[in-house]
Amino acid sequence: MNTFLSRANTIFAFTLSVMAVLTFGCFASTFLNDNLAHVNIKTAKPIVKNMPDYSVSREKNDLGFITFDLRADLNPIFNWNVKQLFLYLTAEYVTGKNVINQVVLWDQIIKRGDNSILDYHGMNPKYYFWDDGNGLRANKNVTLTLSWNVIPNAGTLPKVMGSGSHSFAFPESYASNHF
Ligand SMILES: *[C@@H]1O[C@H](CO)[C@@H](O)[C@H](O)[C@H]1NC(C)=O
Repeated sequence: MNTFLSRANTIFAFTLSVMAVLTFGCFASTFLNDNLAHVNIKTAKPIVKNMPDYSVSREKNDLGFITFDLRADLNPIFNWNVKQLFLYLTAEYVTGKNVINQVVLWDQIIKRGDNSILDYHGMNPKYYFWDDGNGLRANKNVTLTLSWNVIPNAGTLPKVMGSGSHSFAFPESYASNHF
C-alpha cells in the first residue's frame, strides 16, 4: 500500500545526499585555491581640490581626482565553484589625523563567462575620493590596490588582495575649484 510513497521517499533522500556530496565536493575541490592574480595599476593626472562636502558638514575637505589604468588576467581564478568576482579598487594612505585611511574608488562585478581579462585605460573612479580632513594635498604616498571577493557556488567567501600595487603623490597645491 505504501510502497510508492516509501520508494519516493527513498529516492528523495538519496537525491538529497547525492546533492549534498556534490556540493561538498564542489567546495572541497576548490577551497584550497589561493585565488591570487597579479594586477598592474597606473594612475595619471592626480589633482586635489579643497571644497565643502555638504553630505558631512560645511567644512572644507580634500577631494582627490585621478584617472587610472588597470590590467589583470583574472581568468585563472574562475573554476567550477566560482560564480562571480566582486572587484574593488582601494586607495590607502596615512594622514596626520589617521594612521590608516582606506577609500574605495571603484568596483565591478565579473560574472563567470564575462571577459575576465581586465584592460582598462584612463578610467574615472566611480566614487568620490574624499578625505575626512586635509590629508590629500601634498600626500606623498597614496597606494592603490585591487581586491576581490570570490562568490562561490558552495562554500566560503574568500577575500583576496591582488599582488601588485601602485603608489602616487598628490600635488603640493590645490587646483582651482572652478570646474
Ligand atoms: C606607501 O604606503 C604603503 C602602504 O600604504 C607602504 O606599503 C609603502 O611602504 C609606502 N611607501 C613609502 C615610500 O613610504
